[in-house]
Amino acid sequence: MLARNFALEFVRVTEAAALESARLMGRGDEKAADHAAVEAMRKVLNSIQFEGRVVIGEGERDEAPMLYIGEKVGQGPGPKLDLALDPLEGTTICATGGNNSLAVIAIAEEGNFLHAPDTYMKKIAVGPSAKGAIDLNASPTENLRNIARAKHCNIEDLTVIILDRPRHKELIAEVRKAGARIWLIGDGDVSAAIATCKPSSGVDVLMGIGGAPEGVIAAAALRCMGGDFQGQLVFSKDEERARAKKMGILDLDRVYHINELAKGNVMFCATGVTQGTFLDGVRFFSGGAKTHSVVMRSETGTVRFIETDHQFDRKPKY
Ligand code: FBP
Repeated sequence: MLARNFALEFVRVTEAAALESARLMGRGDEKAADHAAVEAMRKVLNSIQFEGRVVIGEGERDEAPMLYIGEKVGQGPGPKLDLALDPLEGTTICATGGNNSLAVIAIAEEGNFLHAPDTYMKKIAVGPSAKGAIDLNASPTENLRNIARAKHCNIEDLTVIILDRPRHKELIAEVRKAGARIWLIGDGDVSAAIATCKPSSGVDVLMGIGGAPEGVIAAAALRCMGGDFQGQLVFSKDEERARAKKMGILDLDRVYHINELAKGNVMFCATGVTQGTFLDGVRFFSGGAKTHSVVMRSETGTVRFIETDHQFDRKPKY
């Protein structure tokens, strides 16, 4: 059972990951920043009384020494929960001191996250005002038309956020032709998906191909905020298709709706690492630091922002 009182426990997990990786902001060392976040996240997870299983994590067992897919975490005994986590979403962002890197974790009851392989995923995400208006089987132009109709505006009023990648050349050309505005980002499509649910972000829709694990995490966040998300796995090699089948995915072309990526009651926690659209980054001060986090639950739709002052001299490190 996904009890309400877990919310604060899991925010400590993303706070720890953010505090450790933020120390390495701008150092140009993605690996070190990611490693610091992973280690901190794992330590705090193992201090919580629950029986956790990593479903979306740092990779497969042989390539990820910590927080690998299938790793058991938590102090147990306690509720059996599945975790979709990314200790540092936007490693390059953190390494370059850019915007919108996050420490994130989504929690669900056992069996409720899609076991997505580490491949790409074609995605579309919108906020609550365009819920029900998206269809990954339709063209970007049709989607923009339907989103504009749902939001009572013109396509020209919409802003589409897209990862700046060569693979998006055709998508970008079509969106431009349709008349919508485009915000190209270097990295961080979880934060971009979440931005669609915050009207002041100025983002209406996320389109394009990003990581599949990030797709499941974004779907969990959007379930809590009342947004909408669809995803379809994208494979470039037979080896990836074989891995997906091994993970239980039988229909490789399926378009997954938000409730199929993250089912049942879901909880989502994130802490800003660097400055962001949705959350401020970690600020260090003499003897401590301030973090900005969000905790949300799909059951109630409560979105709780938590600003925390950490005093390093009084608090043991995890
Ligand atoms: P990392 O934190 O693993 O570096 O991911 C950053 C990210 O931009 C994700 O937000 C996105 O889903 C994915 O990489 C896109 O992958 P690629 O960089 O291969 O286009």
